[in-house]
Amino acid sequence: MAKDTSLYAGKRILVTGGAGFIGANLVKRLIELNADVTVFDNYATGSTSNLYDIEGYTLVEGSILDERLISRIVSNQDIVFHLAVMPISQSFDNVIEMANVNYMGTLKMLEACRNTDTIERFIYTSSVSIYGNALLLPINNSTPYDILTMYAATKLGGEALCDTYTSQFNLPISIVRYSNVYGPRQNPQNPFRGVVGKFLSYALEGKPLKILGDGSDIRDYTYIDDAIEATIRAGIYDNAEYCKLNLGTGIGTSTDELAKIIQSFFPAIDINYVDARDIDLVPKRIVSGHDAREVLSWEPITLKEGIGKMIQQIDNNMTSYVL
Ligand SMILES: NC(=O)c1ccc[n+]([C@@H]2O[C@H](COP(=O)([O-])OP(=O)(O)OC[C@H]3O[C@@H](n4cnc5c(N)ncnc54)[C@H](O)[C@@H]3O)[C@@H](O)[C@H]2O)c1
Repeated sequence: MAKDTSLYAGKRILVTGGAGFIGANLVKRLIELNADVTVFDNYATGSTSNLYDIEGYTLVEGSILDERLISRIVSNQDIVFHLAVMPISQSFDNVIEMANVNYMGTLKMLEACRNTDTIERFIYTSSVSIYGNALLLPINNSTPYDILTMYAATKLGGEALCDTYTSQFNLPISIVRYSNVYGPRQNPQNPFRGVVGKFLSYALEGKPLKILGDGSDIRDYTYIDDAIEATIRAGIYDNAEYCKLNLGTGIGTSTDELAKIIQSFFPAIDINYVDARDIDLVPKRIVSGHDAREVLSWEPITLKEGIGKMIQQIDNNMTSYVL
């Protein structure tokens, strides 16, 4: 059973969405593991600035909707990590394009991989948003899906396509489902994303932490290095093949508690409350990482530990949150 991430050495890896938040962190780790990495991105939301401190990868600009281009870049790859996505923030205004990028784009990537003999694994990065407003917590693999947004519909649609390519074409696939990932390279200026980075950014600027709503919303936050480690293992462990793994810590944290954690590092910072947004449809989400722990020997850290690591990196001038 392959359980050694050093097996990435020399592997030809394609990362779609590799200039995005999670993609760039994944590329960094794969390069550290001596993989031969190609980043594929159209910079819709990502940027080469996310790759600022990484060297030794091939960069291809283009869209996952461009069948001719993707069949060319997929050919000769060993492992494909598919992260390119139109984000949840566009679930309301841009639904047709979202379905096109997230669903049709995934289909086109799978089809290109089916036609490539060298592919050893296709890793699809899904989201726990497919569980919507799950009533029984923590969410686990038997929790019924509850699709509340076009984003969730397209992410689950991508999973259905993966199932089809497994059953019909024997394509070796692993699926990881992320839950509120936070850490370096997440743009705190995006109004819809990354409350942890946003709060940290406010605190570093000496501004009050702005809570949307009453602060009672609960989420299960995953530190980026943990999300990356799980993804890397899912890409190479034999026992992860055909698995769908929810990456949750099993610990829920309210926005209020999150603000207080940030305050524990920056005691002079105040907290302000403003009106909630339409996009926040789920009051409470906690995700069991039981299967990921079993299959990947995965041990995520706590939110307080993750925030401590981010502050340490800022102190060491390794990253910046004030853009
Ligand atoms: N960040 C989270 O907390 C979270 C939670 C659940 C699931 N996910 C999943 O993780 C993956 C990565 O998310 P992220 O947070 O890094 O998002 P991101 O927006 O930072 O990265 C997505 C990348 O995809 C690129 N992209 C968009 N459309 C493209 C296209 N047509 N062709 C090529 N590239 C394109 C963007 O430019 C961007 O670089 C996605 O599949 C997302 O659904 C993330």
